[in-house]
Amino acid sequence: MLIREATEKDLAGIMALEHECFINDAWSEEVMHSELVASHTFYVVVIEEEKIVGYAGLSKLPGSNQADIQTIATQPSVRGRGYGRELMNTLNSKAKELGATEIFLEVRADNTVAQKLYKLFGFKRIGIRKNYYQPDNVDAFVMQTTINSKEPIVLGIESSCDETGIGIVRGNQLLANVISSSMEQHAIFGGVVPEVAARAHLEALTPVLDEALNKANIALDDIDAIAVTNGPGLAGALMVGISAAKALSVATGKPIYAVNHLVGHVAADILANGEVATPTIALLVSGGHTSLLLVRDLLTDVQLLGETIDDAAGEAFDKVARVLGLPYPGGPQIDRVAKEGNPTAIRFPRGLSLPKDMAEHRYDFSFSGLKTAVARHVEVLEDKGEEVNLPDVAASFREAVVDVLVTKAINACKEHDVPRLLLGGGVTANARLREIAAKRCAEEGIELRIPPFDLCTDNGAMIAVLGAQLIMSGALPSKLDFGANSTLQVTKVQS
Ligand code: KG4
Ligand code: ZN
Repeated sequence: MLIREATEKDLAGIMALEHECFINDAWSEEVMHSELVASHTFYVVVIEEEKIVGYAGLSKLPGSNQADIQTIATQPSVRGRGYGRELMNTLNSKAKELGATEIFLEVRADNTVAQKLYKLFGFKRIGIRKNYYQPDNVDAFVMQTTINSKEPIVLGIESSCDETGIGIVRGNQLLANVISSSMEQHAIFGGVVPEVAARAHLEALTPVLDEALNKANIALDDIDAIAVTNGPGLAGALMVGISAAKALSVATGKPIYAVNHLVGHVAADILANGEVATPTIALLVSGGHTSLLLVRDLLTDVQLLGETIDDAAGEAFDKVARVLGLPYPGGPQIDRVAKEGNPTAIRFPRGLSLPKDMAEHRYDFSFSGLKTAVARHVEVLEDKGEEVNLPDVAASFREAVVDVLVTKAINACKEHDVPRLLLGGGVTANARLREIAAKRCAEEGIELRIPPFDLCTDNGAMIAVLGAQLIMSGALPSKLDFGANSTLQVTKVQS
C-alpha cells in the first residue's frame, strides 16, 4: 500500500472509484478534474497493486486558517484495512503544514461509519444542512475540528512496575508529576511482587489522578489526550494503568496513545531540556531494566543495542544488599555504605566484558555472576570466622557495576559516532555512576545528560510527554484494542 499525491493522470482511476462509492451523487469528471489541478487543493490516492483503491482531497485557501476536507473514499473491497485513517492522517498533516487551525467537512447523516472515523480525529458535529445530498434527500452533518497540536495537554499514566505515576504536560512543558510507590510493601520480600504491585496501582490510581489534576490546576475535560504505558513491564501492573486509561478515554471521549515505557524514559529529557538531542545513546538502568539504546529519532528510530541477560542493574543492587544484610531497596543503602569503602579493595568480575563475551554480547549486561561472587566472598570470610569489611565490599561491588555500565555506554557512543549519552532509571541516583559517567564522558568529549531524579525514576510525565510528541507529529490515536505487552520491543514506540 502506498499513499501519494494525486495528479491529473489519476483522473480515470479516481472517477471509476467515485462512481463505485457514490452511486447517486458522484462528482462529474469535469468537477473532479478541476479539483485535481486547482492550486488551493491537495489530493492523495491510495495505491494497491498499481490500482487506485482510495482517494481524498483537501482544500485550503491561502490566507485562510480554515481547511475543508472535500472528499474521502475507499473501495468497498479494501475497507477495514485502516486506509480511511491513513487518508485522514495525511490530510490532517497537510492541513497543519498549510497553517490551518480548523478543518471542516460534510458527511451524509446516514453514513455512521464515516462519522465514527471523523470523531476519532476529533471532529465534532457543529451543524446540519437539510437535504444536502440529492437526489437522495439526505441531510449533511457539518463537522469541525481544531488543530491544537501545537501544545496538546496530555495526561500520562505509568504503572509498569511499582510506581503509579500520573503526569500532565502541555506540549513540552511539565504541569504535574505525581508518583505513588508501593516500594515499602515489597520490602519484606526483597523485590517487587507483581500481584502486590498491581493491587497497589489499583488503590493509588484515583488519588494520584486527583492530585495530578489539582497540581496542574486543570479539569479532566481540559485534557486533549491520554497516554499510557503498555509495555514493557509487569503484565498485571501494566493492565491496571491501561484499564484506567481506556476507561478515562471512553468516559471523556479523548483519544488514547499507548506508548513504550523505555522510550518514555528517553522522552523524559524533553521535560528537562526542551528536546531530546539526537542521535543519542541512552542507558536505562532501573530495578526492572538495563537497556542500552541508540536513538536516532525519538519517534521513528530507536534501536536496542543491548540489555541485561539476567538481573537488572537495580535488581543486582537489591539482591547484593540482601546478601550484605542491608534493607530494600538496596541501591541507596549500598551507595551510602560504599562511601566509606575502597572501590579497589576486591576485584569483582565485570559481566560480559571478556573478549570471548564481547563478540556476542558487546552491549549486553550480566550481573548474576557478580552477585554470586559477592555472596561467595562473604561466605568464605564468614566460614573462616573473619569479619566482612562491609564498606569495601559495597564499594567494590558498586565499582564493578558502574564500570561495566559506563564502559559499555561509552563504547556504544564511540562505535556509533554519537557524541551524547543520556541516562535514565532509578539507578541514576547512584553517586558513583554519576561521578564516573561525568568523568569518562568529559574525557571522551561526550555530552552527558541526566534528567532530574523524579523524571529518571518511573513516572507518568515521561509517558505524557512522549504522547505529546506523537500528537505533535500528527500520529493517530491508538485503537482501543491494544493490550499490555510485557516484552514490548523498543522499536515499537506506539502500539
Ligand atoms: O526506576 P526505579 O525507581 O523503578 C523501578 O525499577 O521500579 O528504580 C528502582 C531501582 C531499585 O532497584 C533501586 O535499588 C535502584 O533503582 N536504586 C539505586 C539507587 N537508588 C535507587 N541503585 C543504585 N544506587 C542508588 N543510589
Ligand atoms: Zn522504568
